[in-house]
Amino acid sequence: MKASPKALAPFGSLFSTGTIRAGKDSSVDALTISHKPKYIVVRSSYMQMVKTMAKVLIVYHTLSGNTEKMAQAFAEGAKSIQGTEVLIKKAFDATLEDLLECDAVAVGSADYFSYIAGALKDFFDRTYYPSQGKVAGKPYAAFATGGRGGETALAVLDRLCTSFKFKKAAEGVAAVRSPSTEVLANCRDAGKKLASAAAT
Ligand SMILES: Cc1cc2nc3c(=O)[nH]c(=O)nc-3n(C[C@H](O)[C@H](O)[C@H](O)COP(=O)(O)O)c2cc1C
Repeated sequence: MKASPKALAPFGSLFSTGTIRAGKDSSVDALTISHKPKYIVVRSSYMQMVKTMAKVLIVYHTLSGNTEKMAQAFAEGAKSIQGTEVLIKKAFDATLEDLLECDAVAVGSADYFSYIAGALKDFFDRTYYPSQGKVAGKPYAAFATGGRGGETALAVLDRLCTSFKFKKAAEGVAAVRSPSTEVLANCRDAGKKLASAAAT
């Protein structure tokens, strides 16, 4: 089955050859295209995956749970954008592949000794060199909590994200110790913005 490049345009480079084959050996064998397509009729689980694959990675570290509450609120906000898949991971468990495969990343930490948590720094350290040239422009958002407010840790996170050449998609969110209702609402809002940026 042949499809004109115009008909395939909505799908970007995915089918840039303009040829779709039906058959057992085809990776898109369940795709159906109308003869004179004004639109493409999709009946493929593969295509549905394409439509729902905006992936947001949330990486954080916490000792007493404050940063975790913010991470959960970020996840709620991101999930409220249709078609977003959220992967939420503690920093020691997050991998280079997680970072490479996501469309946007949120990073969160408590302020420990006027810096970020060692666990999150470890994530940045492990992934820096092997991700260079592969993550430039990736949307990011940061969040932090501290006994005197999380601004110091937030500034560190911004600096590190700039080193990675990530692009800020939402203003950072800071909390004094346990996040208030208002701070959690800001986290949800930032999560939404991040997921929207991931989808574009
Ligand atoms: C080892 C340690 C060092 C800390 N150093 C600072 C600090 O330098 N400045 C600050 O504002 N808060 C500091 N705090 C307070 C934490 O940032 C604050 O309690 C935060 O909300 C903890 O978040 P968490 O529950 O996600 O671990 C420190 C806490 C710990 C355990």
